[in-house]
Amino acid sequence: MKNKREKIGVFDSGLGGLSILKELRKLLPNEDYLFYEDSIHNPYGEKTKEELLEITSNIVDYLLKEQCKIIVIACNTATTCCMKELRKKYPDTIFVGTVPAIKVAYDNHCKKTIILSTPNTMKSKRVDELLHDYKKNDQEIINISGENLANLIEQDKKEEINQLLKRLLNDYKEEADSIVLGCTHYPLIKDQIQKVIPNAILIDSSIGVSNEVKRQLKENNLLKDSEEEGQLTIINTKDKKLINRSWEILEKK
Ligand code: DGL
Repeated sequence: MKNKREKIGVFDSGLGGLSILKELRKLLPNEDYLFYEDSIHNPYGEKTKEELLEITSNIVDYLLKEQCKIIVIACNTATTCCMKELRKKYPDTIFVGTVPAIKVAYDNHCKKTIILSTPNTMKSKRVDELLHDYKKNDQEIINISGENLANLIEQDKKEEINQLLKRLLNDYKEEADSIVLGCTHYPLIKDQIQKVIPNAILIDSSIGVSNEVKRQLKENNLLKDSEEEGQLTIINTKDKKLINRSWEILEKK
């Protein structure tokens, strides 16, 4: 019998998920996607765990009702705060989460690494676990909260973004050799970040997440068997007009 569940469900508190979705569609172009942009609840980075659990459970219910075969949490905040609970609550669902790519910084032999993430991700137990697993003795980590950066990106406030980046990063711009973008919104302003901290390599999670999605689909025999280009549906919980902006971002090289 043909499996009815056919789409890859991807969600985030807004635009940020696009940085993951873009990479996923490059790697798995024949798959169908449903991207759930939860802009009405942005920013996730400052919500309580209880609020986030309720919000993310509702999204998972929706994506399952829409016949998603796998759910990609394209958000570090939702992953670090809720992934364990979601896995318990939905034991038959395949989840792939997003965490700051600390391992990539280690694999690249980086010596002084900034982890820039939302306030919730920064103080999460999951980030402590990642540091415990991957950080080496000669690697220095500087944990920085991006404050309301994700929200400013969501609102496209270029000048405020620039000022905030300078305030957060100026002190480290000579010494840091790498910066882990621990929020999926941040890769969307890569060029602006690089200008403020020109000597650091920028590391994000999109390739790692996409490879893991492919691995999970293969392992569970769920890869779509088709040569045709897949379809993408985007929904936005705040304003339908924001969907056009997302398409523009996806189409930009
Ligand atoms: N893009 C999200 C992340 O990766 C959440 C940003 C927010 O809503 O605060 O953490």
